[in-house]
Amino acid sequence: MTNMRALLDWYAASGITTAEEAAPTDLYDWPEGGHRMPKPGGKYRSPPPPPSSAAPSPAAAPPSSAVMADPDGPMPTDEAVALAKQIAANATTIEALDDAIRGFDGCPLKPGARNTVIYDGVPRAPILIIGEAPGRDEDRLGKPFVGRAGILLDKMLAAIGQSRVAGDDFGDVCITNAIYWRPPGNRTPTKAEIAICLPFVERFIALSAPKLIMLTGNVPTHALYNGAPGITRSRGAWRDWPGPDGTPLPVLPVFHPAFLLRQPAQKRLAWADLRSVASRLQAV
Ligand code: URA
Repeated sequence: MTNMRALLDWYAASGITTAEEAAPTDLYDWPEGGHRMPKPGGKYRSPPPPPSSAAPSPAAAPPSSAVMADPDGPMPTDEAVALAKQIAANATTIEALDDAIRGFDGCPLKPGARNTVIYDGVPRAPILIIGEAPGRDEDRLGKPFVGRAGILLDKMLAAIGQSRVAGDDFGDVCITNAIYWRPPGNRTPTKAEIAICLPFVERFIALSAPKLIMLTGNVPTHALYNGAPGITRSRGAWRDWPGPDGTPLPVLPVFHPAFLLRQPAQKRLAWADLRSVASRLQAV
């Protein structure tokens, strides 16, 4: 029992707070009250439904919680990447790219997600923030950074006079992610999932033409800069990304706000990064 408690504590400390599997499962499609759990002896805790001669045998019916697999299986990663590149290249506006991403079925995370989460804020704003992947709240609401980390991100932006709200007195920000569908249990996206979404992220940058980009955490930093050191070493050091008109765009990796919620002492470094963003914005 003590070991089990310690294991649960360790899961919670690692951010694993929901019981999900490695493969996507549509938890929103679970029956009211959840599935009946078999007792060790094979009996259900709640009584089974009364038999009906008209109904098909339960054994023959597909499980209602299972995400229906594509009969051809998931698309091979290289095919999905090639398709993403082609679709992304054909989009000539952010709105068209948004539609194209929603219609894309090549990412294996999509069937298990409730929503495709693409961007929030002001399209083509001077600051573009690229986060990791939608979490539970983002998946539910269909917008990036709407949970606790998003609230902190908004406060951080406000501290340097920026916001994602159009038409307020602050400078404009657009927020997107490196991954558009929630990974099960908020696990780290795989290299294949990152590679499949990357052509869309690159096109989003080109069509946004921001003055500067902030990358929150390891996932977007490694997506754009393969082989970059971990975020603790990457943060605070400006990098370049090829801009749409050939001029290099300044890019700053920063700590992810979810990390700052767990490690508030690191806010000192995050503040230094925000000040660096504010002064760079004046210069570009
Ligand atoms: N964390 C992210 O990186 N992106 C989100 O959209 C939410 C949390």
